[in-house]
Amino acid sequence: MPSVIYVSSNGSRKSVAVEVGVSVMAGAVEHGVDGIVGQCGGNAICGTCHVYVNPDQLSLLEPIADDEAATLEIVAAERRPNSRLGCQIAMKPELDGLIVEMPEYQL
Ligand code: FES
Repeated sequence: MPSVIYVSSNGSRKSVAVEVGVSVMAGAVEHGVDGIVGQCGGNAICGTCHVYVNPDQLSLLEPIADDEAATLEIVAAERRPNSRLGCQIAMKPELDGLIVEMPEYQL
């Protein structure tokens, strides 16, 4: 099972095995990772699953779809070039070791 390394805004790291097909947001919520809320349940509406993806791994992700792009405009914390919605990143074997940093706040 591929793993995701969640890095909190204070620098603490937690590595979590996330099933293929399950999103980075759902993996965090299921394993009690603080810093990702997932208020809309993964529908790319709320923006509370905002993460900063390790720039070296950005090219492994699917391109940003229109609904994700629109929601990234309204995220609570600063949007950066490596901002993505965790609910729109479905785990796949190639993403093993994906590093995502959570912003200081989601709401
Ligand atoms: S969980 Fe709401 S936008 Fe990702």
